[in-house]
Amino acid sequence: MKKLLALLPMLSFSALLTAVQPALAQAPAANPALPNIKILATGGTIAGAGVSSTQYAGYQAAVTPVDKLLAAVPELSKVANVTGEQIAQVASHNMTGDILLKLAQRVNVLLASKDVDGVVITHGTNTLEESAYFLNLVVKSSKPVVMVGAMRPGTSMSADGPMNIFRSVITAGSKDAHGRGVMVVMNDQIIGARDLHKTDTMTVDTFKAPVFGYLGFVVDGKTHFYKPAARKHTTATEFDVTGLTSLPKVDIVLGYEDDSRTAIDALVAAGAKGIVHAGAGTASVSAAVQPGILDAVARKVAVVRSPRASLGIITRNMEFDDDKFGTISGDTLNPPKARILLMLALTKTSDPKEIQRMFDMY
Ligand code: SIN
Repeated sequence: MKKLLALLPMLSFSALLTAVQPALAQAPAANPALPNIKILATGGTIAGAGVSSTQYAGYQAAVTPVDKLLAAVPELSKVANVTGEQIAQVASHNMTGDILLKLAQRVNVLLASKDVDGVVITHGTNTLEESAYFLNLVVKSSKPVVMVGAMRPGTSMSADGPMNIFRSVITAGSKDAHGRGVMVVMNDQIIGARDLHKTDTMTVDTFKAPVFGYLGFVVDGKTHFYKPAARKHTTATEFDVTGLTSLPKVDIVLGYEDDSRTAIDALVAAGAKGIVHAGAGTASVSAAVQPGILDAVARKVAVVRSPRASLGIITRNMEFDDDKFGTISGDTLNPPKARILLMLALTKTSDPKEIQRMFDMY
């Protein structure tokens, strides 16, 4: 603060505000009656900025630092002792395995501390489903982990980020939120990581849980829960990212009319350890692609069948003889989430039967 005061005559008002806000955001007087919530920022539209208040597309994602995000929601100090930390600053389609590992390892360290009651992660919405499901499988704590994004940049009229952050912090500080796995809070709704689907490219209510429904709602500073997470998560999984420095290479291949085995062959040649085939209908495999899949399996590449339609169940041997061909059915995971589980499964085993057990369990 002293240094800032010395600079005062040289700064314009807006530059001064910009300089002072981080210092203020970092130094709130902790209220012992409130939960201690850590905000980990990774980028996305929630940290985005446009050139005008009416720009909703074509803005730049991942530019606003965490301290400024928090300073924009002064109401937070009434519901939690909040501190921020910047883990990454990327649009989420640039999220990498390295960042995911860094994030998960940091969450585990923080939640092991008695001084942290919950974690909120700000994230781009494009791949929020994937990161949320990854953390759902590797966080080793029953304390709340809440992920949040925004569909409109902070500079826009009716930006959704500040309210989403506020409700996320309330959820992360809620005693009722313990043991429910990683959650996403947007638009009043609390959605389990496994159930989350981004359904629209632009609308604020893009996130839904169309198959399994919402876990609950946040209303006027209070959480209301109706059910637990559907499958095993966090402390109940066999996955552990402690000390892990990379994730196995797993890719997704889309099935479509008149497709071919070219993509599968190229990915196997490039060193893929696993492939998710996003097949039409009930994850069907065309006659042209089938020999490519059989060759991949013969080369010990794990192949999971998942629905291109994104919603619905794929059971074993459903329109494709998984038993005979050594493939794995993806249950109700959409292709991007099936890729996450397959990566984690491959950190433990390359046996398709074992991997099938994991798909049936998580
Ligand atoms: C991103 O996913 O990082 C950009 C888009 C968004 O957050 O809505």
